[in-house]
Amino acid sequence: MCKPCAMAGVCLCTMQSYRFAITHPCSRIFPSAPPLKRGTKTSYSYSKFLKASLIAFILTSAICSRSSAQKFEQLALTPPMGWNSWNTFQVNINEQMLRDMVDAMVSSGMRDAGYTYFVLDDGWMSMQRDTNGNLVPDPKKFPSGIKAFADYVHSKGLKFGIYNCAGTKTCAGFPGTHGYEYQDARLYASWGVDYLKYDWCNTDSINARDAYLTMSKAIRAAGRPMIFSLCEWGNHGPWLWATNVGQLWRTTSDIHAGFDKDLNYGTWSSYSVMHIVDLQNKIRQYAGPGHWNDPDMLEVGNGGMSYAENKSHFSMWCMLAAPLIAGNDLRKMSSETKEILTNKDVIAVDQDSLGVEAYRYYSFDSLEMWVKPLKHNEVAICFLNRASHPQTIDYDWSAHVLTDTVSHIHIDFKSEGYKLRDLWTKKVAGTTGTPFKQTIAPHDVVMLRLTKIKP
Ligand code: GLA
Repeated sequence: MCKPCAMAGVCLCTMQSYRFAITHPCSRIFPSAPPLKRGTKTSYSYSKFLKASLIAFILTSAICSRSSAQKFEQLALTPPMGWNSWNTFQVNINEQMLRDMVDAMVSSGMRDAGYTYFVLDDGWMSMQRDTNGNLVPDPKKFPSGIKAFADYVHSKGLKFGIYNCAGTKTCAGFPGTHGYEYQDARLYASWGVDYLKYDWCNTDSINARDAYLTMSKAIRAAGRPMIFSLCEWGNHGPWLWATNVGQLWRTTSDIHAGFDKDLNYGTWSSYSVMHIVDLQNKIRQYAGPGHWNDPDMLEVGNGGMSYAENKSHFSMWCMLAAPLIAGNDLRKMSSETKEILTNKDVIAVDQDSLGVEAYRYYSFDSLEMWVKPLKHNEVAICFLNRASHPQTIDYDWSAHVLTDTVSHIHIDFKSEGYKLRDLWTKKVAGTTGTPFKQTIAPHDVVMLRLTKIKP
């Protein structure tokens, strides 16, 4: 990274790693100031010097600002979509099972619905690095190696992702990347990795910001564009500092397949879907194209939740412009799970290129209304019934004005009419000219897309 060159006329670019530091000689571009002589001619030569310095400054700034850009731009301009092995399989993964999963990703229609990244989570490595310090794929789990597996993933029109950790060990105890950032990034690039999930276990006194920045630079230096997914569970407020570091950052502890009850493991808890939803509202302004809040992977189809709850989970993730990383066994998806995960109208809300997260417009007696501004002045609305009994909404659009400080929408339904489309029933649901009345089942949603009626 280049420290700001503007003030001092000296720019120090260092490639930081725990193993080495290279000083880039940007400073040499600046000539040393000649001693200022008083007298007639000296002002001419000094102005020449100033001109030279100015040109050098502009050149240096251009070079340094380019090298200080951390992440690869133009990646994840909409929230990334894919599949990850952790939620169903934890470390119990192997090459054959994963190849079958890749095949299922294609044959089930998931790939064509937009799920592109196939990500191996924790558990793909051997317990030790080799004598050169390289990570070694577990030979029992991956007899053909990771490169061959990545090639297989690519051959199916998918992209390939992998997992490691900023600590000395991963959360499951495999070798972490601390101290090997550049080496690991080069290895991933040589394998054809397109996405790196980077966790936060066994980090003791490591500074989170430095650790993620170092890995981001290492990916950049390896030269292969990879989505960089920060996974420090929101502990260090990555939404405040990671916009130029990665494309997404976890905002909470791990999810589990439960609607509204956390699971307590003593030293930590995994969160319910509703708990995670509640933690997103205040950080929505930090997400946008290329830099997303990540409320964790999907639990749709993993048992533990009813059809309605899975629908609500998926709808809310799409309302929140969340990365959609499925975590179910794609080889045996029920038709209900498939219907939820591949609902193209709901996915379109998630993938809307405006990239604005929904906000909670109102909440009363466990009935909530969420609003997501979309491009072309469209809006998605999600009525969410968190209660364990049915609730009826009777919503008079004309009595409300929708405003939003993030997207700056201002919709007064008294003067602007919208058509309503129900994204789950796929039916036209009237217009904003009359109140919207519907009973919502326990833990279920009604999700609408509003399109302006042309005058
Ligand atoms: C952490 C992460 C999970 C998963 C596991 C793997 O808990 O938050 O998503 O990657 O580690 O060990």
